[in-house]
Amino acid sequence: MDHEFLIQCRQGFEKDLAAELAAWGSKKNFASFTRTVEDKGYVFFKGSAFPFPLQESVFARQMMKVSETLSSLPEKNKLDPILEAIEKDQSFQGVLCESLLVNGPKGIQDFSKKFERVLEKALHTSGQISRDPQLPTLHVFFLDYEQAVVGCGLKNYCSRERNGILRLRRSSDAPSRSSLKLEEAFRILFPEHKLEKHENSESLPIAVDLGAAPGGWTYELVKRNYLVYSVDNGPMNPKLMQSGRVSHEATDAFHYRPPEKVDLLVCDIVEKPYQVSELIAKWFANNWTRRAIFNLKLPMKKRYAAVKDCIELLTQDLDCTVRCKQLFHDREEVTLFVESRHEVTGRRTK
Ligand SMILES: C[S@@+](CC[C@H](N)C(=O)[O-])C[C@H]1O[C@@H](n2cnc3c(N)ncnc32)[C@H](O)[C@@H]1O
Repeated sequence: MDHEFLIQCRQGFEKDLAAELAAWGSKKNFASFTRTVEDKGYVFFKGSAFPFPLQESVFARQMMKVSETLSSLPEKNKLDPILEAIEKDQSFQGVLCESLLVNGPKGIQDFSKKFERVLEKALHTSGQISRDPQLPTLHVFFLDYEQAVVGCGLKNYCSRERNGILRLRRSSDAPSRSSLKLEEAFRILFPEHKLEKHENSESLPIAVDLGAAPGGWTYELVKRNYLVYSVDNGPMNPKLMQSGRVSHEATDAFHYRPPEKVDLLVCDIVEKPYQVSELIAKWFANNWTRRAIFNLKLPMKKRYAAVKDCIELLTQDLDCTVRCKQLFHDREEVTLFVESRHEVTGRRTK
């Protein structure tokens, strides 16, 4: 039996998400149908099950299985019709009320946050909330003040964060706003990353930052205890250079070769996505790094096709795993995490 799913993405990327869903459907050999609503930040998808776990999708931020779409919600009492749409014997681990992030009516986001508390309280009273993490989350998505989509989200298929967005605050001493991009990438794409204790600077992990200036990404790496080779012809933030953890290499990233094998390569260069992917592939083919985090700028129309070509390039000849996501701090771009399946050994190969 087919169900309907509401899947959120960055506003303006609805067609890219639809292309990703179509590609997924044809790979899995199932018929699917997608209805996009331009510039609203979501699409409707019809299929027998959730299309993919959230972690495996490039453009999906949040997903819910729709049980009912309510229209003509009254101005004053929206609670009763929403409670009526929920089966009385169904329990949830929690409630998530969301709304359009952009192009929605004024105040709808604050309203949905407040409504979430009201709805959760009502469900507590009726004994329908239980903190069992295997239970679904009740999801309500307000299209406006009169229309709401009611449904549920399941573990691995929906995010506990509102609209699937991890909200981060920029540190006052970070040299650029870009630092948030790398912080989000670490948390979403490389959650296994641990801040290990290092006895002395000889055992500190080593990173290379390609296209590093003014230093937002380098700052994030230093914060995580890395010694960093920062490659850019542009100037680096002087305060960051005083940390003693950064070596500025004023040269072209496409010709740079690391003086030793490194633990992590990061790259934030504004270049054609395929060219950047070839550069990253070169690092793995030469065994210069164990892992990489980088982004691909997507100024073209067929963005999903461009991303797919780059992922294919990275996976066809290299023994690597690849994760790719459009993060909240990504605008016309996506971020990738690549990890070699074998250890890179033999440091200090100067
Ligand atoms: C988006 S900015 C990087 C911002 C940086 N990640 C941060 O957090 O501050 C892109 C940088 O790439 C550098 N860049 C562009 N092409 C490059 C190349 N071929 N080699 C080295 N750096 C390059 C530019 O000079 C620019 O500083």
